[in-house]
Amino acid sequence: MLKTKFLGYSLNCPLTTASGTFGYGECYQDFFAVNELGMLTTKGITLEPRSGNPAPRLAEVTSGIINSIGLENPGLIKFQEEIVPTFVAFNIPIIVNLNGKTIEEYEILAKAINNISSIAFVELNISCPNVKEGGILFGTDPVITRAVVKRVRQVLTKKKLILKLSPSVSDIRQFALICQEEQADAISLINTIPAMQINLATKKPTLGNIIGGLSGPCIKPIAIRMVYEVASVVKIPIIGMGGVSSAADVLEFLMAGASVVAIGTSLFSNPKLVREIKTELLKYCVEHQLKNISDIIGIAHQKEEHNE
Ligand SMILES: Cc1cc2nc3c(=O)[nH]c(=O)nc-3n(C[C@H](O)[C@H](O)[C@H](O)COP(=O)(O)O)c2cc1C
Repeated sequence: MLKTKFLGYSLNCPLTTASGTFGYGECYQDFFAVNELGMLTTKGITLEPRSGNPAPRLAEVTSGIINSIGLENPGLIKFQEEIVPTFVAFNIPIIVNLNGKTIEEYEILAKAINNISSIAFVELNISCPNVKEGGILFGTDPVITRAVVKRVRQVLTKKKLILKLSPSVSDIRQFALICQEEQADAISLINTIPAMQINLATKKPTLGNIIGGLSGPCIKPIAIRMVYEVASVVKIPIIGMGGVSSAADVLEFLMAGASVVAIGTSLFSNPKLVREIKTELLKYCVEHQLKNISDIIGIAHQKEEHNE
């Protein structure tokens, strides 16, 4: 009942992890097996290793967190040598999240990933709010967005291409349409929303980077709106995310038009969430006599039939 298809891959459920909240699959193995997910989305990779932003890098706010990790990661070479070999054990499709400071860097990263057989998808993050170069600056400019997708599409011949969009734009549909026009295979949204907190004791910003990205349940209604808007204009599938903390949230994203839903920040407070959500989704299918959970994808868009 939870089995679904995504861009030609069979998934055992429509769930993945939100990049940056699940490491490379090693973090939660005491709580559930990675292959209980439909797909695994890795933490962001950059060309060179990055140590990330100065501490503190996390601030708790009402119903969410603000992070300014700044893409800490071991860089492409170590990723290829030490992390990629661990993927075969997971036996589910892997989405690798890529981040560049320039279009050339995105291109080099995509070329390298193109030849790695254990990776199914590339997710281009053009929406990170915590880095000085690239990131959100790319994903909020329609001309640069088009250029990045075009260049990466040319070199990424063997993998499916997913574009991760920024919520920090006035019309998300414009960016989704650009990605579709440039032959992206799917869209993922939303990334975190630029935010900050002041520490009352120090009278200074809490985060070392001053500004970070807001995530968790407080951003869910914004994410639902954006998934709904994007689903109403594109034909390519959507991975929806932003504040998922229950099966009800997953259902809401599916009904808004997401084909797959990613779970992120809520894993920090409940590492057993994936298993709990799957149990509840199965119950929902039985109670609502659904043959498959995918039957509700985009159902919120269907017009009411009036019998007059
Ligand atoms: C600690 C942390 C690190 C993140 N790192 C990345 C990243 O490397 N690449 C990326 O595209 N998104 C990153 N994100 C954004 C998430 O993938 C997701 O888009 C966002 O947090 C909204 O989902 P959530 O509310 O379920 O966490 C990160 C989020 C958090 C909280």
